[in-house]
Amino acid sequence: MAIILGIESSCDETSAAICIDGKIRSNVIANQTIHEKFGGVVPELASRAHQQNIIPAVAQAIREAKVHKNDIAAVAFTRGPGLLGSLLVGTSFAKAFALARSIPLIEINHMQAHILAHFIDDPTPAFPFLCLTVSGGHTQLVLVKDYFEMELLGQTLDDAAGEAFDKTAKILGLPYPGGPLIDRYARDGNADAFTFPEPQIPGLNFSFSGLKTAILYFVRQKEQEQPGFLQKHLHDVCASVQSRIVSILLNKLKRAAKAVGVSDVAIAGGVSANSGLRDGLIALGEEQGWRVFIPRFEFCTDNAAMIAIAGYHKYLAGDFVGHDVAPLARYSL
Ligand code: KG4
Ligand code: ZN
Repeated sequence: MAIILGIESSCDETSAAICIDGKIRSNVIANQTIHEKFGGVVPELASRAHQQNIIPAVAQAIREAKVHKNDIAAVAFTRGPGLLGSLLVGTSFAKAFALARSIPLIEINHMQAHILAHFIDDPTPAFPFLCLTVSGGHTQLVLVKDYFEMELLGQTLDDAAGEAFDKTAKILGLPYPGGPLIDRYARDGNADAFTFPEPQIPGLNFSFSGLKTAILYFVRQKEQEQPGFLQKHLHDVCASVQSRIVSILLNKLKRAAKAVGVSDVAIAGGVSANSGLRDGLIALGEEQGWRVFIPRFEFCTDNAAMIAIAGYHKYLAGDFVGHDVAPLARYSL
């Protein structure tokens, strides 16, 4: 029996999970609400909150999984990419835990882990498959050839998809993080009410900064012409913006699937929780004859279950690291 402890601390979620023989038994996530009043994640505060949260989160994950800490076979942690001060907390904890129990240490790339969340539940995608990873910091089209063999086909040239949601929310006067709120308001809005531009970026790369500027000018102009416009049309604006972000993502996904000739297609990362993207992918999958893979909501945004499952596959391969391992703010696939 292989019991793996997974630790995630790359941004503003402190999370710990237990995986037993490839099945997730617990996944504890401590959200940091302290950043809301600053309109974004404050790195120093995130790091301090991780320090406060990490031991209770790990203790709870062990308790909920009904295992004994002496039976844990290995500890997997997020090495990067992310905020260095945040990553340091998870990395140091994982090292100390592994050292104290004389068990192996496993380093995990956070962006690979988002994709490997698809191996938590059945059915799982078959290699090679295509994954669109969309989070607060990244937008990547990835050809997944094996658990840890991934080829980056395209990525954003400026803002990430999650940033496009969050920055739009800020323009619309919504609190941080605005992605989930835009999703909620969009549900009873008319997506055809307003049209926002689709950037013409060649190949499989993305760009979202032009869209952000277009939304800013649109809102300013409308408010000037009709004061109170935004309040009156908030739901329609959210639905129209969301529909454009989703169409930008899905158009590139379609192009990538054609280019590499695969029919198993997945989405991952925080923005894969977006209902417009989820529904859009299902419809596109039916049209294109794809098998589509969409993570459960709790495995879209940052969580340690994805670190633990990735750790399990490295454990099987005997892929361990020494205690001189350091976290990486930038860490390519
Ligand atoms: O993967 P994640 O939890 O953290 C990073 O690794 O960045 O992604 C967070 C991002 C944020 O930008 C958040 O606004 C966005 O995911 N997000 C959403 C939704 N839920 C989370 N964006 C749109 N609709 C949602 N339902
Ligand atoms: Zn993430």
